[in-house]
Order: sequence, then structure tokens, then C-alpha cells
Amino acid sequence: MQPDEHELISVRINKILRAKKWKVLRLISKVEDFPKYMPNVKQCSIIEKRARASLTSWSVDVDGIPFNWKEKDEFDFENFTVHFKAIEGDLEILEGRWILSDHPSGGTEVKIEVSVQLGIPMVGQLVGGVIAEKLKKNFELMLSAMDDKLVTQRYKNIANRAVSDISGFAVIGHPYNLRHLIKYFKFYKPDMKLPSEEFMLKVFEITPSYNSYEIKNFKSATGKETHGYFVMCPIIPDMLTLKPEKVIEKVGQACRVAENLGVGIVTLGGFTSIAGEQYSKLLTSYTNVPLTTGNTYTVSLVLEGVYKAAQWMGVDLAQARVTVIGGSGDIGGACARILAEKVGEITITGRNEKGLMEQERMLSYCGRAKIRTCRDNNEAVRNADIVIAAASASSSIVDFASFKSGAIICDVGYPKNLSYTMSHREDILVFSGGLAKLPSDFDLGFDIGLPNTKIFYGCFAEAIVLDLEERYENFSWGKGNITAEKVELIGQMARKHGFTLAPFFWGIRMLTEASVEKIKKKVRTGVVKNG
Ligand SMILES: NC(=O)c1ccc[n+]([C@@H]2O[C@H](COP(=O)([O-])OP(=O)(O)OC[C@H]3O[C@@H](n4cnc5c(N)ncnc54)[C@H](OP(=O)(O)O)[C@@H]3O)[C@@H](O)[C@H]2O)c1
Repeated sequence: MQPDEHELISVRINKILRAKKWKVLRLISKVEDFPKYMPNVKQCSIIEKRARASLTSWSVDVDGIPFNWKEKDEFDFENFTVHFKAIEGDLEILEGRWILSDHPSGGTEVKIEVSVQLGIPMVGQLVGGVIAEKLKKNFELMLSAMDDKLVTQRYKNIANRAVSDISGFAVIGHPYNLRHLIKYFKFYKPDMKLPSEEFMLKVFEITPSYNSYEIKNFKSATGKETHGYFVMCPIIPDMLTLKPEKVIEKVGQACRVAENLGVGIVTLGGFTSIAGEQYSKLLTSYTNVPLTTGNTYTVSLVLEGVYKAAQWMGVDLAQARVTVIGGSGDIGGACARILAEKVGEITITGRNEKGLMEQERMLSYCGRAKIRTCRDNNEAVRNADIVIAAASASSSIVDFASFKSGAIICDVGYPKNLSYTMSHREDILVFSGGLAKLPSDFDLGFDIGLPNTKIFYGCFAEAIVLDLEERYENFSWGKGNITAEKVELIGQMARKHGFTLAPFFWGIRMLTEASVEKIKKKVRTGVVKNG
């Protein structure tokens, strides 16, 4: 039923804004700034201002309908309430109040209650409801603009630690495949009756990114403490090829979740960083929070692991033939550039010929190593003393039988480039690379593919290090930007806080110096390859 011309229409709007009450109230009181950041508010000026009251003039446009009025505002600062009443204008009655209250999320719940009467006979009955809807939309747009402004302001102060309330870190993760996703669900509900794969993937696909876990009191070796969050981005790697726009939407959502939590730095783990790098401009324009891929610290850990493994296996780096699978990528490319000064020969692999050629040209300026490219991963590793596997592949891409006896293989991939379910090869040293040992536990409860709660992905660890150093900046950002100097710098900062290279392991097997001695013995005595 339509309201009659004398009937008051009530409009209610409710939104949580990501700032404290006093900040929201301060913003509401600065009405003269509204046209600067609210596209629907065409004009708003103060006619008269006193300590607790003001007279203001408004011009607002919602979907082509212009609303003009003058209103009296009264500020009840004690109760965080603002009353307003139009004293002249297009509507016969326009009055209401803004009520602010603390919200458990740490933000402010804003309720706007408005009463409206159009006052035009006949027509009022027909369009009163529509007008009320437009006004509702107007207030919703105002609140969204305020929310964006509050968050932008919050992050603008980030460099001024004295006034900034930004702190902590967030890591964005995702399951590495469907089996891992099931494991994650079963952690929360062990007797879960599994629906069909199709159904489960669809439900996962429509799930928005969410804050999955808070880590309190993470302690550095210096004694400094911080806190952080694990934000789940509901994607699995195959989705990046199949539905890239869906993936980037969810990565953006995950960054917003972190931003709402007021953290100083967010790292994009696994395939969220690969998507993030592909759409980096879009992502950085969408969020205020500093982003990093964590790839610089990952490279630092990969190289440290490779140097240590070479020492254990007695491989002379200066003569070594190194293959980097995914050598045109961010991590693989950086490893190759740094190693080009130290080793004898580097072969890089990738699927895209152009990417490989560009990287080959760059590497030829980097140092002494002879550079080769190859698009066949198995062929490329056949004579390699050292293999760094850093391809963004969603499943295994190299056969164990292809490695030469005595080879060192550092698999950085997430998911792994090599299958965990190998291998009868006892004459090669293969380990998970790019991993850090933490100074403090990071226990998410569920399995994230690591042997214990002290071992963590380098990309995640980078955010914790940057947070402990209060370096809230896009530290690793943009493909191909990792330099030897930055790798050295992040390594130094990490060591200062007690982060070290994780012990070697592969699958569920830990590898010690003693197990490496066994591998060396197999190499000496000669073993038939049957990987
Ligand atoms: N351990 C950790 O803490 C950690 C940290 C960060 C990242 N990661 C993982 O490290 C890997 C690399 O990350 P990134 O940031 O360097 O990714 P990236 O910049 O996208 O580089 C990956 C490279 O892999 C190549 N590639 C993809 N499929 C391939 C295949 N079948 N054979 C050979 N090359 C292939 C791609 O080149 P083409 O397209 O030309 O093939 C690309 O250049 C990912 O799996 C990521 O999840 C691990």
C-alpha cells in the first residue's frame, strides 16, 4: 500500500564504520567537507555555527533526483548523537538523528533514523515510497564514503607512529588443492560427511575471504611482541587459470579484511601473490594497507638453504650447474640473478618463450655464469648439480627419475613442483625451500603443509619481520624487483628477531647432516635410479 500524503515515512540505515566513535563524530561534524568525498553531495555549507548546533544548507543528487534543504543540527556529544531537522526545502518533513555506538569489531555502529514527508498531494501517495528509498540510498552512500575516508586517513598517518593506531600483520593463505581443503574442513568437523567435490568447490567459490585466526603475543628474540591474523582467501590454485577475475576479487576482499583489522602490513601467500602481482595496480588502488608478496625473504631463505646443502653435499658452487624451474618468475628470476655471480652455469625453464628470452638477456649482464634456457623441465634438470624449483604450477611438473645422482633439489613451490609421494631415490637431496624457523610458535591448529608450528613459509615470515621492524611499506612488490641488497637487508632484519633457516625436510621426513651422509654414500657406491 502507498503512504498517503500526510503519512510520515520512516527510513532506517545501519552501518559499521571502521573507526572509533569520536573519529566518526568528528567527521560528521565537518559537513562542509562532504562534497569533497561524497559524489552524491553536490553542495553543503555552514550558514551558522555554535558550539553544539549549526545551521546548514544542502544540495544532494540521488539517481538524478535533486534534493535541496536547509537544516538545523544539534550535537549531543555526551551521547554521541546528532539530531537534524529541515527548516525549509523540497520535502515537507525531513528530520532524524545519527546515533553512534561502540561495535565489538573495534569500529562504530552508526544508526541513522529519518522521518520523511513529501507533502505533494496525489503524487506524494504514488512516489513517497520511492523518494524514501532514494533518501535511504543517499545516506548509505554517505556512510560508505565516510568509511573509506576514515580508513584512508588512518593509513595516511602510518608514517607517524606517534599518532597512528595501525599495528600487527596479516598473512593471506589458501588451501593448496582440494584434498588440502577437505583436511581443513575436517579439522573443524572430524565427522563431516563429505558432499560431492563439485558442490564443495562451488560453496568454497562463493565464500568471501574471512579472518580465520588471530595470533596473539608473537615474540621476537629481541623480546618485542606483536600480533597478527591469518586471513583465508577461499581459492585453490587452479582457479587462477579458470576464473582469474574471481580470484583477484577474493584477494582484494582478503586485503580489505586485513585493513579492517588495522594491521600495518599484509603478505599475499602462495597463489594470492601470483594473482596480486598480475593485477598489482588494481589491488593497490583498492586497499590502503601496505602489501608485500614475501618473495624477498623467500629468496633469502632459498639461497641460504642452497648454500648450506651445497656445503653438506660437497658441491663446489663456483663450478656448479644450476637449473631454476620457473626461472622467469619473481622468486626464480631473483635466485638466478644472484646466483649468476657465483656459479658456473644456469639453466632457466618456463612455458613462455618470450619470458625466458627476456630473463636470459637480463641474466647475461648479471655475472660470470653461462646462461641457458629450456622449456622442458625434465630435460633441463638432467645434468644439474643444483635445482631450484620455483614454478607457479598447481601440480607436480618434474619426474624424480630425471635428476642426476648427487643432485640437490630445493622445491619452493606452493603447491610443490615435485610430488611428495616419491621416491625411491636415496641418492639425491631434496628439500622444501624458502622456509623459516620462527622465534615463537605460529599455531594455526590446522595443517598448512609444514612439519611443526615453528616452521613457516618465508612469504608469511616476511610480514612478521616487517611488522616487528615497523616497516609498513610495499617491501616486495612488482615482479622482477628483488635485488641482492634487499635480500641481504631482509635477511639481516629477520636474524635480528631470531628468524633462521628452517631445518631441511621433505614430506614428513626431517633431513639431518647424518641423513645427508647416507645420501653421499649412495652416490659414491652407485644406485640405480628408479624414481
Ligand atoms: N616457500 C614459500 O614460502 C613461498 C613463498 C612465496 C611463493 N611461493 C611459491 O613459489 C612459486 C613461485 O612464486 P613466484 O611469486 O615467483 O611466481 P611467479 O612470479 O608467477 O613465477 C612463477 C614462474 O613459474 C613459471 N611456470 C609456471 N608453470 C610452469 C611449468 N609448468 N614449468 C616451468 N615453469 C613454469 C612461470 O612462467 P611461464 O608462465 O612462462 O611458465 C613463472 O615465470 C609459487 O608456487 C608460489 O606459491 C613459495
